[in-house]
Amino acid sequence: MIYLDNSATTRPDPSVLESFNEVSKKFFGNPSSIHQFGGTAEKLLFSAKKQAADLLNVDTDEIIFTSGGTEGNNMAVKGIALEHQNRGKHIITTEIEHPSIFEACKSLEKLGFETTYLPVNEEGIVSVQDVEKAIREDTILITIMHVNNELGSIQPVEKIGEIAKKYPKLFFHVDGVQGLGKVPLTLRKSGIDLCTFSGHKIHGLKGTGMLYINKRTKIFPLFHGGSQESALRSGTENLAGIVSLVKALRLIKEREKKEGTHLFELQRYVMDQIKEIEGVHINTPANAAPHIVNISVPGIKPEVIIHMLGEQDIYISTKSACSSKLKDESKVLVACGFETSRSTSALRISLSYDNTMGEIKQFITALKKAIKQFKDALE
Ligand SMILES: Cc1ncc(COP(=O)(O)O)c(C=O)c1O
Repeated sequence: MIYLDNSATTRPDPSVLESFNEVSKKFFGNPSSIHQFGGTAEKLLFSAKKQAADLLNVDTDEIIFTSGGTEGNNMAVKGIALEHQNRGKHIITTEIEHPSIFEACKSLEKLGFETTYLPVNEEGIVSVQDVEKAIREDTILITIMHVNNELGSIQPVEKIGEIAKKYPKLFFHVDGVQGLGKVPLTLRKSGIDLCTFSGHKIHGLKGTGMLYINKRTKIFPLFHGGSQESALRSGTENLAGIVSLVKALRLIKEREKKEGTHLFELQRYVMDQIKEIEGVHINTPANAAPHIVNISVPGIKPEVIIHMLGEQDIYISTKSACSSKLKDESKVLVACGFETSRSTSALRISLSYDNTMGEIKQFITALKKAIKQFKDALE
């Protein structure tokens, strides 16, 4: 199998699975139980949190474990909105956010909040000036993703953080799901108040994730109950999931340092080869994250190519058609200003550190063949 759909999800690292198994077997006690067995689980939870905080260079009490990116994003957006609504009801975001941000904002609009959806340029990047201009007296939240999941474009979140610092009454949330382990991001003193991460995008397990919430930031919890996770996310902790997530975090951070150039080399090769194929457009801009290449093949339905490659055990993806009126149209590519023939024929190749140059060469050969076969059949 050649798996090139790593932005959708990644293969769990064997050692991550091992630590999940180990903790499930040996430390199944409830961290809230007052007996010694519960105490051992509690200690393990605390040390996992400390390790996660150290790896992200933040404080231990600034990490909340969640079930993944969707939960983290909802917790941040709704949590800020509900907690700070007395100060204002205005939210700033972009037109290219993941549905877990877009739909969270839409749901708040039903409760009387107002959202400004900022446009992006043809490279899928929001303007820092636009962000600052959009700030109003009643703005309580800016939420902008770090790396776009379809295009790989990197948003200027560090610069936006500098702006956010000048407005102490508003909070700045970053959806860090696609950037973690591929594009460095400093959290401490960055002006970023909240940042979402997901385990299954970094070779961890589905159902695991983290939300960074800095000390100055208060949110309204989505779940109430036994006051776990500083009463911000009640519910018995998924200790095995948490320990395995922290393992995945440590491994991806190591790979980011040691194998960063490998991803860039694979991406460059894919781009260079695809440039040579007639009638194929590259949508991913220069200076994008190293793991995503988005292309369009106008005139061929993306599903057809995905199916042809799938028959050879090669897996790439199209985008989810959610929230677009036209079937198969990418809302992100529309926001970049691409014409319909391009925004309805997009394919995403997303890489992981595990991919080899041999696999990429095989994929390119298969892609060229599939496009040729399709065109020959039309003639
Ligand atoms: C940018 C971005 N944010 C959030 C999510 C949601 O993460 P999860 O699948 O862990 O809920 C994804 C998943 O595709 C994503 O790409």
